[in-house]
Amino acid sequence: MVSYKELGLVNTREMFKKAVAGGYAIPAFNFNNMEQLQAIIMAAAETKSPVILQVSKGARNYANATLLRYMAEGAVAYAKELGWEHPQICLHLDHGDSFELCKNCVDMGFSSVMIDASALPYEENIALSKKVADYAHQYDVTVEAELGVLAGVEDEVSAEQSHYTRPEEVIDFATRTGCDSLAISVGTSHGAYKFKPEQCTRDPKTGKLVPPPLAFDVLHEIEKKLPGFPIVLHGSSSVPQEYVDMCNKYGGNLPNAIGIPEEQLREAAKSAVCKINIDSDSRLAMTAAIRKHLAENPSHFDPRQYLKPAREEMKKMYIHKIVNVLGSDGKAE
Ligand code: G3H
Ligand code: 13P
Ligand code: ZN
Repeated sequence: MVSYKELGLVNTREMFKKAVAGGYAIPAFNFNNMEQLQAIIMAAAETKSPVILQVSKGARNYANATLLRYMAEGAVAYAKELGWEHPQICLHLDHGDSFELCKNCVDMGFSSVMIDASALPYEENIALSKKVADYAHQYDVTVEAELGVLAGVEDEVSAEQSHYTRPEEVIDFATRTGCDSLAISVGTSHGAYKFKPEQCTRDPKTGKLVPPPLAFDVLHEIEKKLPGFPIVLHGSSSVPQEYVDMCNKYGGNLPNAIGIPEEQLREAAKSAVCKINIDSDSRLAMTAAIRKHLAENPSHFDPRQYLKPAREEMKKMYIHKIVNVLGSDGKAE
């Protein structure tokens, strides 16, 4: 059993309390490899932003669970080396799908876990989320649970037909599970294809596709039911057009990739939404930079040659999110 406190990590409790009161959101960035982690820590250290490092089950399978957890421990030391005296870094399990996985993360030093039982029937979701919360809380590890179902990239339902969180259920759910934060469904979804072109309108000036707005009415209803309770938005990548264009220009094929407009995330960050999950934008930044570099430098074969610009591009993107979208800069001086 390793306590995250010994690793210099923090849970989400204080971060969220301040974020809700201050009208900003904490960035939750996924990482699977060293370059993503370096870029996240450089961005957080430079902007003095609290940050949540997210590890998915897929990331653990890809990179090795033990290695990732030591990388997160190293991230705290690295942040200090970069001059960030009091780093506020949380190590969080993203989309935990079983009690055993959540327990394993708590036991190996995660400071926060998500139990995503949102696909289960309501009472089963409550039972599993409560079981995880009861276990995690013994070690002061915070727990995110989810109510409502996000539209998947793979299924045929449109975002409007995703199962929005039902505001009438949130008090009962939060009370009975004892969760510390609640992920909700208000029209976001995972991946780089969040909307079909036929769901969008076209901006007459720019010709760009404009996706339908998030269900702010549902979000505000939830806020009214649970005043001050931390709300989480998954699937919040904006899918920057410049990265999609760069990928496509240098041999990629990402037709009609569409994300959540940043103005909407800015608005959400001012509400009870205090954690915003971003993964796809990092994937796009990295891939776009690598494609460009290799296309322009066909003789390069040292991975450091193309991973360096990829890391720079991710860092730039993370800083942009922190400063211009979430407003978390300067909140962890
Ligand atoms: O919500 C999903 C995250 O983007 C993690 O994705 O399961 O492919 O690692 P992954
Ligand atoms: P995106 O695919 O929009 O980046 O969402 C990531 C996410 O929700 C991770 O849990
Ligand atoms: Zn997610």
